[in-house]
Amino acid sequence: MNATIREAPERPISRAFGTVFPKPDQMARLSPADRRLALLLANEARHEIPELALPNFATPEKDDAPIGQVRSADVDLGKTEQDEAIGLDLARLLDGRMLVQGASGAGKSWTLRRLIEQTAGRVQQIIVDPEGEFRSISETYGHFHVEAHKLDTAALAVLGARVRAHRISVLLDMSELDREGQMQAIAAFFEALVNAPRTHWHACLVFVDEAHLFAPFGGQSTAATSVRRSAIGAVVDLMSRGRKRGLAGVLATQRLARLAKSVASEMHNFLVGMNTLDLDIRRAAETIGWDASRAFDRLPMLEPGDFVAVGPAFSRSPAVLRVGGVVTHHRGARPEIEPPDDLDSKTAAELLDLDSLIDATQADDDLREENALVPGLRAVRAFIRDPAFPIAGRLIQELRRLQPNGAHVADIAPGLSIDPAEVAAAITLLDQYGALEFMGEGEDRAIRIEKGMCQ
Ligand SMILES: Nc1ncnc2c1ncn2[C@@H]1O[C@H](COP(=O)(O)OP(=O)(O)OP(=O)(O)O)[C@@H](O)[C@H]1O
Ligand SMILES: [Mg+2]
Repeated sequence: MNATIREAPERPISRAFGTVFPKPDQMARLSPADRRLALLLANEARHEIPELALPNFATPEKDDAPIGQVRSADVDLGKTEQDEAIGLDLARLLDGRMLVQGASGAGKSWTLRRLIEQTAGRVQQIIVDPEGEFRSISETYGHFHVEAHKLDTAALAVLGARVRAHRISVLLDMSELDREGQMQAIAAFFEALVNAPRTHWHACLVFVDEAHLFAPFGGQSTAATSVRRSAIGAVVDLMSRGRKRGLAGVLATQRLARLAKSVASEMHNFLVGMNTLDLDIRRAAETIGWDASRAFDRLPMLEPGDFVAVGPAFSRSPAVLRVGGVVTHHRGARPEIEPPDDLDSKTAAELLDLDSLIDATQADDDLREENALVPGLRAVRAFIRDPAFPIAGRLIQELRRLQPNGAHVADIAPGLSIDPAEVAAAITLLDQYGALEFMGEGEDRAIRIEKGMCQ
């Protein structure tokens, strides 16, 4: 590259106040054309003003050579296409967060696993696992395995605060929750992480696989608006306010278009893998600063585990790399193809036990019908269905006659010639519905109709 660029007419440089030059992380956010221009200007300035302490930016030799300096790295990520090691600087990752994007099978979960394994024991980690894929991580590295469906939102909030206070690495397994439950859980948990008191602001990587489930773009979720809003709010908060509080999100998603824009806009580091849909390729190209034709040529052809790395945390950026191996068992692979077992229809019928499924469906239907009733009606039906209901009715009739006085409990059974156990059951039933007032103790115990029930 021999061209010497003195001044871009649309961006004149004022040398009156010294030379201003973007920092490496600002550089990474420029478009490729601007970045190239900035590099040429920097090298020229260094030439003209030798004492100028500029970062050591290398001029790109050819179009797809890595641009920018080779930075330090303390996390081993994999190898570039040229078989050079490529890594991450943990501190810069904490500052700039990361988004891993690619189609299904591109290797996102594998990449998260690699990052988790390479940083385990060096910094606190929180893993949000919507599919229950990361269990083996907690078995090998000792992350506390939390089954989110066993905790309600209040308990999850307390858990979040405790995790911050004690710097415990946890795996939040959400695989048993439905989509709405997952959103509610994440809202409560993340809010507690972000709102922890200043004394608990420690560095912590928060890995979120399938992040679009928690922070979907626009109407791309069936969850109620309020649930969706609070989940998105919590993820955005984690990504924005979280930084100063030591929380760095490392998120994976299949499609940028499915992730809330406000979440993606907080990212400074990107790993973009195989993409096949036009819209995804265009969005990915914008993200990594590739022109569309190059993106359409290369992104669909990437193999699982191949990613384009862009951002200040990578030791080379941009660069195409193959993410390295993992230690723990990865469950993301599709099952092997095998022919089905050869079963006769009797065995199949036994195994499927269809009759009992039909019965269970019928019972569920009855229950669903019941639940569909308004709550008041449901309560009345439960009251009438109770075996103690007829005696309770008689008791109310007798007590109404005695109003405002009542009757000694001990006198009721002999007085009405009813079995004492049945009287006791009727009293319990009426008490459940708040129909009775009790006075005295033991032998003297008496009941009357509750004041609010008197006409
Ligand atoms: N770096 C890698 N090295 C070797 N094989 C890989 C690598 N990354 C992914 N693979 C292979 O690709 C498969 C799919 O990877 P992974 O489960 O990470 O995909 P994914 O992007 O998370 O897909 P999904 O969106 O469907 O969850 C893995 O099971 C593994 O066989
Ligand atoms: Mg995955």
